[in-house]
Amino acid sequence: MIEVDISRAQSFLSAPEFAKSHKKAEQAFKQVQQKNGKGSEWLGWRSMLADPGDTVLEQCERLSTTIREEADIFIMCGIGGSYMGARAVIEALSSFFGNGGPEILYAGHHMSGKYLTELIRYLETPNSEGEPRSVYLNVISKSGTTLETALSFRILRNWMQERFEDITDRIICTTSAEGGALNQLIDEHHYRKFVIPDDVGGRFSVLTPVGLLPIAVAGIDIHSLFYEAVAKYAALEEDPEPVLKYAAARHALYKQGKAIDIFTTFEPQLNAFCGWLQQLLGESEGKEKKGIYPAKAAYSTDLHSVGQFIQQGSRNMIETFLCVQSENKNLDVAAQEQNHDGLNYLAGRSFHDINSRALEGTIAAHHKGGVPCIITTLEQLDAPHLGEFIYIYELMTAIYCYCLEVNPFNQPGVELYKKEMYKLLGK
Ligand code: PA5
Repeated sequence: MIEVDISRAQSFLSAPEFAKSHKKAEQAFKQVQQKNGKGSEWLGWRSMLADPGDTVLEQCERLSTTIREEADIFIMCGIGGSYMGARAVIEALSSFFGNGGPEILYAGHHMSGKYLTELIRYLETPNSEGEPRSVYLNVISKSGTTLETALSFRILRNWMQERFEDITDRIICTTSAEGGALNQLIDEHHYRKFVIPDDVGGRFSVLTPVGLLPIAVAGIDIHSLFYEAVAKYAALEEDPEPVLKYAAARHALYKQGKAIDIFTTFEPQLNAFCGWLQQLLGESEGKEKKGIYPAKAAYSTDLHSVGQFIQQGSRNMIETFLCVQSENKNLDVAAQEQNHDGLNYLAGRSFHDINSRALEGTIAAHHKGGVPCIITTLEQLDAPHLGEFIYIYELMTAIYCYCLEVNPFNQPGVELYKKEMYKLLGK
């Protein structure tokens, strides 16, 4: 169960302001349902939950079992929507210091030659048994042409070609059914292939093979991740009010002039989820000179960097907290005879409890300081709750963007840097 509490955002809105945006959100949800809004050809992330099937889940589970048995390292090579969702789920549910399965590494998400050189040097170091490391590579690109990903893939597949005889098993490509340079490579070299549905855009694709295969390789139960999203889809079709309220509050705050939404959490394992939200909202709403800039902060770390600004700086921001109700790993503070550090007042309390009081205190202080706060609470941090969370945010994004009257599913601005870059590179 996920609770979205907008009360500390609504308190900055008058009843008519909220009602006006709520009406817009209701109309926006109808556009989503009736598929007559902007970019309605990109609503596949809903239809796959409305009419779910197990084929892709089973394929991902089967291959992930082999990879978990055989691989020391699994490299996920992609950028933007082609890796951020999977990374968010994997980091949310993995141990900080190794998980027992293959080590998951990332590539294709920038163009640092230093990074790739060091990555390859690392791949070449023997494993704990002194054997050459067994490496599997999953390249993910819907267009098949994204430079960061394509360049890294070229370097990594050439390296793999020299090391492994069975690279057609070890290289897995996730891309569109047809077209793009990646499909030409697949045809030529007979790499394994997963298809990204045409009607699902990158940042809405975490519940397709884009996210499901890497998440399964990390040992996470993709069945419950996916099917909890399916259940949430059905529940919100019946009663969309929780998401309508959220989209309405965010829209009314935008209309009031709020320009920044800081996605934050006191749980370090959810930092990458703040990144996924930043991308989901940023690429969806930031167009036609509209939108709230999605920022991210990691608390309590960043309370000692940007906390001052949030408390007392320009009053143009809102804050979205990602919280977890239940504690997963309990660590208690023990009393000490010598109380030189003065911490005995915390004796007997758990870190989860102390961290939760820091969260409550921060929300109270920022709210009093004039920052509208939206609080999203996951009852537990596990695969089903993350499935539910993913769908809530995908739907909220679509509804809110329709309130802004922008197409949530395209990203025309991203092409412009590419055009300039390719000109300079002589493409
Ligand atoms: O959300 C999006 O559509 C983008 O962030 C893309 O995922 C990103 O640009 C990568 O594109 P591609 O998968 O075509 O390499």
